Amino acid sequence: MENGPDIKRFFEPRSVAVIGASNVEGKIGYKLMENITSGGYKGELYPINPRGGEIFGIKAYQQITDIEGSVDMAIIAIPASFVLEEVRRCGEKGVSFLTIITSGFSEVGESELERKIVETAKSYRMRILGPNIFGIYSSKVDLNATFGPKGVKKGKVAIITQSGALGIAMIGKTATEGIGLSTIVSLGNKSDMDENDLLEYLANDNSTKVILAYIEGITNGETLLGSLKKISRIKPVVVIKSGRSKRGALAAASHTGSLAGSDEVFDSVMKQCGVFRAESLDEGFNWIKFLADTPLPKSNSCVIVTNGGGIGVLATDACEKYNIELMDEPEYLKETFHSAIPSFGSTKNPIDITGQSSAEVYKKTLIAALESNRISSVMALYCQTADFKKEPYKEMITLIHNEYMSRGKTIAFSLVGGREVEECVNELKENGLPAFKGVYEMVSCFGVLHRFSENKARREMEIAESEIDVERIENILDNALSEGRAFLLSQEAKEMLDAADIPTPKSFVARSIEEAVNGAEDMGYPIVMKIVSRDILHKSDAGGVALDLENKEEVMDAYQLIIRNAKNYDPHAKIDGIEVAEMIPQGLETIIGARRDRSFGPILMFGLGGIYVEVMKDVSFRALPMDREEVYSLLKDVRSYPLLLGVRGEESKDIEELIEVMIKVGTLIRKVKRITDIEINPLFVFGRGKGVKVVDIRIMIAMEKEVSE
Ligand code: COA
Repeated sequence: MENGPDIKRFFEPRSVAVIGASNVEGKIGYKLMENITSGGYKGELYPINPRGGEIFGIKAYQQITDIEGSVDMAIIAIPASFVLEEVRRCGEKGVSFLTIITSGFSEVGESELERKIVETAKSYRMRILGPNIFGIYSSKVDLNATFGPKGVKKGKVAIITQSGALGIAMIGKTATEGIGLSTIVSLGNKSDMDENDLLEYLANDNSTKVILAYIEGITNGETLLGSLKKISRIKPVVVIKSGRSKRGALAAASHTGSLAGSDEVFDSVMKQCGVFRAESLDEGFNWIKFLADTPLPKSNSCVIVTNGGGIGVLATDACEKYNIELMDEPEYLKETFHSAIPSFGSTKNPIDITGQSSAEVYKKTLIAALESNRISSVMALYCQTADFKKEPYKEMITLIHNEYMSRGKTIAFSLVGGREVEECVNELKENGLPAFKGVYEMVSCFGVLHRFSENKARREMEIAESEIDVERIENILDNALSEGRAFLLSQEAKEMLDAADIPTPKSFVARSIEEAVNGAEDMGYPIVMKIVSRDILHKSDAGGVALDLENKEEVMDAYQLIIRNAKNYDPHAKIDGIEVAEMIPQGLETIIGARRDRSFGPILMFGLGGIYVEVMKDVSFRALPMDREEVYSLLKDVRSYPLLLGVRGEESKDIEELIEVMIKVGTLIRKVKRITDIEINPLFVFGRGKGVKVVDIRIMIAMEKEVSE
């Protein structure tokens, strides 16, 4: 909201009123007071209750307007039917933020009441968190205004959650996992404030090092993308999204539509923003803990130390998946490790001391790795051996970790084995150490850490856009709409592509043999000819298509043959002429799609095209706008990207031109709001320097004059 209160006062309120504060144990108004007082809130606290008196030993006011001092935040926990009235009073009092815990609004169909509350708050320039939430914890002012567990551990992780119940569970889980919080905020119905408002503050909040967001549905997607792109370069953002629904609501209109299931789009877009999407709560928690506590690797030189060949291989495979480079300098590795490991071990990365080695050898090898100036990160793998004893191992790992982490080394431990080993891992974790039961879990943490290093190195670039003739395009749309069509005819679509400077095959409609011949001579051979008639949809079946015509004589013969065939096929068909078009040589078939996603607004799709696109599903998505690097990354995302580079001696393809066309299609959907879907399939991509060509195109438009994004 423009000119709204400073978001700082939401996370750092100087004074808080609890409307619905209660002395009755078991009530939410009681729990809130208990958490706020026991949490040591640093500001003024005002309980509000019609009975007055004292609550938790603090003077209670009958109404918020009775308070003399100012109130930055009012927390509301009274039945839904009384909330609107209290919101009005808060407005009169000049409150800045409302945290509405109460349920019973839009989530149960009471949208009108919620709308009135938002409207009232807006009229007083108040912002609303919720309703239907568990509250907010903010470490800056030691405010635990939630009805979750008390005794939240202070730390560096900020959690934003749409689900209240899960949020409360997360507070408990952070405690057992030894994760400290800078804040946790429940978003509930998002009637007013959403992720964007909170990210704005968290981006610059020096007590927050990592952000975890649990998202169920996206509102205001385009703004969210902008915030996420910015913030993910400053601090890591981990997202857990529930629901892997297969299809977006506007699915069937095109290939792009049916391929753009909401989850696929969400996945691609999060990647585009530099956000790390976790598959599960456990994975998300592993990541945030690691990201919060582990120094970023200073270089790409990672070494695996193991006492088991098998888990070493597992870790190597996982490193490949997460793009983690393993140090590959045999001479240096030999020099570094030969005195530490036994003669039957291996100094090739993974450094394998083998299962016969003692704890002492394991320790010596780890120290050799960590003492090296050139090795910046170490994955320590351990397979249970006969001499395993929990306490000495725990002690050794703790000592090594504390010593080298403080020296800026990136290190984690994965211990695989029976109950005693698992207990060891659990205890290390509780003490805040990066210890894992699974190799894969550990490597995935290194993966996000590396990706965050890459994010930090990414520069902000200019948005890639092209010049298009919007007025000419709007006229084409007006014409189609005036005929009641929500799609463009092929000539119209071609004209639109011309207006956007996207290369289509040269063509014209000839109405006589002379016109056909003259035009063909000008255009150059070979050419194709096709009947143009609204009454003949299946041109080939009607004998209305002639391919690969090489000269004047062939054009004359084909013209007469096509007209004759068409008349035989349907004597009443109205024939508008014959389309004469350049014959396009075979190129690599790709697909470019653009559409309006319900969550993120305009999105662009690229993939391997042609008739198998729906089977292969080798496509990827990005949200618009994009810079040139992002467009390039969209190309690289598809599995068949190597085909563009040229395989088995084939020449590489015209990637530069392909990127230009993608930028132009992106510009079209962004600038012309009435276009809902563009699908170019196939787009032929030729060899380097030889360009690309649209072979077929579909354009859908919205029937309404104005489309809001
Ligand atoms: N101003 C101030 N206090 C008021 C009030 C008002 N206008 N109207 C009522 N109160 C007081 C009540 O007198 C009571 O205090 P008391 O215990 O001293 O009598 C207190 O506020 C609470 O009201 P009560 O009627 O007892 O409601 P409740 O505690 O049973 O339920 C909610 C209130 C908000 C907890 C309930 O309506 C609700 O929404 N529960 C679900 C919350 C939830 O799950 N949120 C989402 C989590 S993810």
